[in-house]
Amino acid sequence: MTTAATLKDAIINRRSIRKVTKNAAITSERIAEILKTSLHAPSSFNMQSGRMVVLMDGEHEKLWDIVKETLRKRVPAENFEATAQRLQGFRDGAGTILFFEDQATIQRMQENAPSYKEQFPFWSHQGSAMLQYAVWMSLEADGIGSSLQHYNPIIDEEVKRTWGIPQEWSLIAQMPFGEPNEQPGERSFLPFEDVVKFHQ
Ligand SMILES: Cc1cc2nc3c(=O)[nH]c(=O)nc-3n(C[C@H](O)[C@H](O)[C@H](O)COP(=O)(O)O)c2cc1C
Repeated sequence: MTTAATLKDAIINRRSIRKVTKNAAITSERIAEILKTSLHAPSSFNMQSGRMVVLMDGEHEKLWDIVKETLRKRVPAENFEATAQRLQGFRDGAGTILFFEDQATIQRMQENAPSYKEQFPFWSHQGSAMLQYAVWMSLEADGIGSSLQHYNPIIDEEVKRTWGIPQEWSLIAQMPFGEPNEQPGERSFLPFEDVVKFHQ
């Protein structure tokens, strides 16, 4: 495992690693440390509506079995093998972080600051994205590969039932992680000048 020395390294080296494997050195204690750091990510009005559930080992595998069986009913049979292989790349990993947003917090914020009522659902997603990015970079900085997946909402009910998740937590994303087991491909970037404008 390589670890990032600087924030710039972590930003540049973070990639989608969709094939990960197990490694006994990736413990729940280590993930907890990474998540504690990541919780310094900002949220609107410091409302802290993000919630995370970490599934390790057998519980993690159970999640990817749920995804597989859910997709089996939806994906055309001739495409299912490719889907199953993709899912196997996640299941072979050490764990998965489930990102939720607590709708009860958002509702309370809407009641307390009614003039921003319409904005809170957007700010909730933006806050979640910042948290996800902090986690993704922190994992990378610690030498752990991960990717961002969205099998919600089709898995939501079974996930909530299986792990006793409160009904008011809405599932936003899944982040399977583990020892990196693929080299990410080249990534293209739009010309800087098209994306960023300076006026001075
Ligand atoms: C909001 C968002 C949603 C994404 N959803 C998925 C997804 O559902 N499945 C997936 O494999 N990658 C997903 N990605 C990863 C992007 O495809 C990836 O970050 C992008 O192509 C750049 O590649 P990189 O992550 O290797 O730098 C998502 C990324 C973002 C920011």
